[in-house]
Amino acid sequence: MDNKIDEIQGTLKKYGQEHLIKQYEKLNEEKRKLFLEQLESVDFELIQNLYNTTNKEKKNNKDEITPIEYLDKYKLYDEYKRYENIGIKAIKEGKLAVVTMAGGQGTRLGHNGPKGTYDIGLDSHKSLFELLSDYIKEQEKKYNVIIPWFIMTSRENNKDTINFFEKRKYFGHQKDKNIFFFVQGELPMIDTEGKILIGEDGLIKVAADGHGGIYESLVKRGMTQKMRQMGIEWVFIGGVDNCLVKMVDPVLMGVAIDKEVTVACKSVVKANPHENVGVFCKKNGRPNVIEYSEITEEMAEATDEDGELLYGESHILCNLFSVEAIERMGANPLPYHIAHKKAKYIDKDGNLIVPDSPNAYKFEAFLFDAFGEVDEMAILRVKREEEFAPVKNSDEAGVDCPKTARELYKRFHNLD
Ligand code: UD1
Repeated sequence: MDNKIDEIQGTLKKYGQEHLIKQYEKLNEEKRKLFLEQLESVDFELIQNLYNTTNKEKKNNKDEITPIEYLDKYKLYDEYKRYENIGIKAIKEGKLAVVTMAGGQGTRLGHNGPKGTYDIGLDSHKSLFELLSDYIKEQEKKYNVIIPWFIMTSRENNKDTINFFEKRKYFGHQKDKNIFFFVQGELPMIDTEGKILIGEDGLIKVAADGHGGIYESLVKRGMTQKMRQMGIEWVFIGGVDNCLVKMVDPVLMGVAIDKEVTVACKSVVKANPHENVGVFCKKNGRPNVIEYSEITEEMAEATDEDGELLYGESHILCNLFSVEAIERMGANPLPYHIAHKKAKYIDKDGNLIVPDSPNAYKFEAFLFDAFGEVDEMAILRVKREEEFAPVKNSDEAGVDCPKTARELYKRFHNLD
């Protein structure tokens, strides 16, 4: 083991991360092993490049952003049935699988555990996972077919997630037969000097690298291969935190198949110009999403001649891909977005530091940055009250919180 650390010393020196050697020396045998494994998996060149981008002034953005066309699901008239029939046929032939991105913790909700285990306060006290499971089972019955469910966890919550499912007998799904778990990627967090941080456990402090890594993870963890073996051609990827997410939508599938696109996404009309949602657009002529944290005020408020928002199609994390598109997107790394965060860490003298202002950088890739891979994609506007009840914040926030989600869920399911 000590040979290995000797081998890696040169690399650590080259990248100014020698403090990691000192940390290694402080650890016991068991932790040293884990630390070494971490060291071997870190791409130091990437970390250095990412750190360099944190210092750069944001260059004048020359990207040309333009609105994108969409179809309104409820204004398809005669075409509705035609698309629906195409989609139903593909679903009944077992060509659809669904993926739930559940790598996040319920931190913003004040929930201690994987977000999917959160109970939004329905009388049934079902967790988000169980609500999604109920929906999948209902659709399987409707179309008389198995719809394999893939769940993306993070290293942080993988064990808790699987234990949760195990205790509940996977809600009737069969593990490794029609329900599969795979772990997303992660990256070290660094301080404002570019030094890799040490976490409370004495190991390298890592954080989930955003859902942009999903394509690569699906491929690397053998999930796309499994899908192909099962005859899956289409994969719906959705978030865990929308309790009305409609993962099985024959019209969306019919549109994708008929229009011969490999990516088709659902949108809802933005509730107001400053709602915290990303919006669909074209960037330099190619499909894209501008995230709410990155849109300019002017663009958020721009309207067309009818007074409708020019960038009013909200991205609701309801996206359908062909398996081939996922494999292609998984082959090209996506850019990382930088978040300046507060992160507890152990300093060089072994003290736990709990910062009260942002002290660390976290890097995340966004799945929609891969949309530019395709020339065209379809966007289907659906009804908010039928498909979008996100649970993001605690009730104090008043929006996208358990209370609002619960009300939308109950109204949709006629529960009171
Ligand atoms: C997200 C979208 C935003 C969209 C909004 C709709 C991003 C970056 N932005 O915002 O465009 O309008 O939802 O509600 O996603 N997740 C992982 N692993 C990660 C990060 C996230 O699995 O590393 C999962 C979460 O568990 C969750 C989903 O991705 O299911 C959304 O992530 P979150 O970070 O909460 O995004 P929002 O800021 O809510």
